[in-house]
Amino acid sequence: MYRSNLPHVLSFINLKGGVGKTTTAVAVAEMLAHELRKRVLLIDLDPQTNATINLISEKRWDELDREGQTIAQLFEDKINLHRKPKFDVEKAIVRGVSTVDGGIARLDLLPSSIRLIDFEERIAMISYNPGFLISPLDVLRQALEPVLERYEYVIIDCPPSLGSVTKNGLRISTGYVIPTIPDIVSTWGIYQIVQNVRSFGARFGRVLEPLGIVATKVQRNNLHARVMEDLFHGRLGKFSEEGVPQPRFFKSRIPLAVDVARGGDADAGLRTLKSKYGIEAYEALHELALEIWALCEARCH
Ligand SMILES: Nc1ncnc2c1ncn2[C@@H]1O[C@H](COP(=O)(O)OP(=O)(O)O)[C@@H](O)[C@H]1O
Ligand SMILES: [Mg+2]
Repeated sequence: MYRSNLPHVLSFINLKGGVGKTTTAVAVAEMLAHELRKRVLLIDLDPQTNATINLISEKRWDELDREGQTIAQLFEDKINLHRKPKFDVEKAIVRGVSTVDGGIARLDLLPSSIRLIDFEERIAMISYNPGFLISPLDVLRQALEPVLERYEYVIIDCPPSLGSVTKNGLRISTGYVIPTIPDIVSTWGIYQIVQNVRSFGARFGRVLEPLGIVATKVQRNNLHARVMEDLFHGRLGKFSEEGVPQPRFFKSRIPLAVDVARGGDADAGLRTLKSKYGIEAYEALHELALEIWALCEARCH
């Protein structure tokens, strides 16, 4: 059946912040690269740069930002056509990133910058530039074309919105993952995400469906247990009311763990993924990476 040498490209999306998108995206990328020995590129599309700072030192990031080798510069080059373009995907990609083990050999990063905030709203205007050559939603796709074949997986950490930057990520995505805290408020927007992304995909003649919903920052309390029970049985809010099938609920559930919260510190000097995440969260995140891998493999064969 369908087989190509292009990677699986997975966006991690939720309209809410603080639900573990970045943590889960980074960990899955690390697990795929280190434990499953896949060639992985992580793209940080969030101006908050949390994934970037999780994977490289602030010093390294600062250098790249000043040299204009971040996602922000990629968009700036397309917006300010009168300036000489600076972004060069080969220079921007940092190889062998992670705080673990002095870097993970197969894990690369395309870093973000806080300056991306300045461009989000201006991306749509790219199409008004005299002599523009590219659709505002194809900027990332075009930039990555020369490097995509090197990877088996591309993981995209998205900002908490479905704006132009996220859409640039979705444009190249083969699927997406919805991390959520299993409580009522956090699961509220999932139905909208699925509908919205589906119609975005349809605009390009593509089927763009979630691989699944993953419970993050899970605590041992009745509320979390009840919401996860509903998710497990496909009974999430509007999906069941409208009789639309709910996305799969991943078997793996990521516990709220103190080591995970600490893991974001790039200078912690950690030796293994087990010490970065703590054994319980390590096992859940490893399991999640295996579930994602199995689903992606099944799509190819
Ligand atoms: N499983 C977890 N256990 C403990 N803290 C977590 C966990 N997942 C995320 N966090 C913490 O919660 C905060 C928000 O997580 P983050 O991944 O940045 O969310 P998002 O990308 O959705 O905004 C961060 O401080 C992060 O360290
Ligand atoms: Mg984030």
